[in-house]
Amino acid sequence: MTIESRERVRRYFDEFGDAEWDRLTGDVRGRVSLEIHRRFLARFVQPGDRVLEVGAGPGRFTIELAALGATVVVTDLSPVQLALNAEHLRGTVSEAAVERREVLDVCDTSRYADGEFDLVLAYGGPLSYAFEHAEEAMRGLLRITRPGGPVVGSVMSLLGTWRHFLPGVVKVAETIGEDANDRILRTGDLRHEAGQGIDTHVCQMFRHRDLAELARAAGGEIVAASAGNWASLGDLDALAVLEADPSRWARFMEHEVAACQERGALDGGTHILFAARGQSYGS
Ligand SMILES: C[S@@+](CC[C@H](N)C(=O)[O-])C[C@H]1O[C@@H](n2cnc3c(N)ncnc32)[C@H](O)[C@@H]1O
Repeated sequence: MTIESRERVRRYFDEFGDAEWDRLTGDVRGRVSLEIHRRFLARFVQPGDRVLEVGAGPGRFTIELAALGATVVVTDLSPVQLALNAEHLRGTVSEAAVERREVLDVCDTSRYADGEFDLVLAYGGPLSYAFEHAEEAMRGLLRITRPGGPVVGSVMSLLGTWRHFLPGVVKVAETIGEDANDRILRTGDLRHEAGQGIDTHVCQMFRHRDLAELARAAGGEIVAASAGNWASLGDLDALAVLEADPSRWARFMEHEVAACQERGALDGGTHILFAARGQSYGS
C-alpha cells in the first residue's frame, strides 16, 4: 500500500474511533457476523496459545481470545484503536491475557521471529487495507506463525458487498461513472471510487478465489473458509421475528453457520473468513 493509502486508512480508523466497538452489535446482521466470526475462531485456538492479533480494533476479538485461554500481543495501525482496546479491557479479566499492545502495519511484521506465534488473527480486514502489499503481508503472517499453525482472518467480500449494497452501488456509479464502477467490480479496489472525488472508506474487496490465489502466492493455502453472513443478509422483519424467539434463533444460527461454509455461499456475505497455513508445513 502506498504511504498515502496507509495514512488515509489510519486516519479513517482514528476518526471512526469507538463507533468500531458497535459495528458488530448494532444490528442483527452484525450480531450474526460476530457470532460466525466467534465460532470460526474457536475452531483454531487452543488454551495456552500465544496469539498475535493484527488490526485488533477496540477489542471484540481480544476478549474472545482471552476467553479461549490464549495470551495476546494486541496490535493495530491506529493508535486511537489501540487506546480504545486498552480502555475496553481495563478492569476486566480479559486484560490479564494481554501480553502487550503495539502499533503495527500488517505489511511489515519483520520485528517478529519465524514461528513466534501459535496463531495469527487478522479479523475485520487488515489484509483488505494492504492493497498492492497484500501478498507480502500474507507471507509475513505465515512466516511468524509456528509450523502448522493457522493465520485466521477475514476480508471484505466483493460479490457479497456488491449484492448487499446494490442500491448504493447504482447511485455511486452515477457519480463516478460506469467505467470506474466496472474497474471496482473487476479489481475489488475501492480506491477507484475514492479517486473520483468521493471521500470514502477505501479497501480491497476479494472473491474467495482471489483469496485462495493470494494465499498460494504467499506460499500457503486456505484450509477453511466461511462467509460472514448468508440468510442474515435477507429480510430484516423476518430476522426480527426469529431473533425475538431464543429457541428459533438458536436453530437459525445453526443453519446460518452451516450455510456460510457451503462452497456456494463463500462469496455471498459482506466478509469472507479464512484460515490459511503455510504449504511447506505439509498441513
Ligand atoms: C474493521 S476494524 C476490525 C477490528 C477487529 N479486528 C474486529 O474484527 O472487530 C479494522 C482494523 O484494522 C486496522 N487496520 C487497518 N489497516 C491496517 C494495517 N495496514 N495494519 C494493521 N491494522 C490495520 C484498523 O485500524 C482497524 O482497527
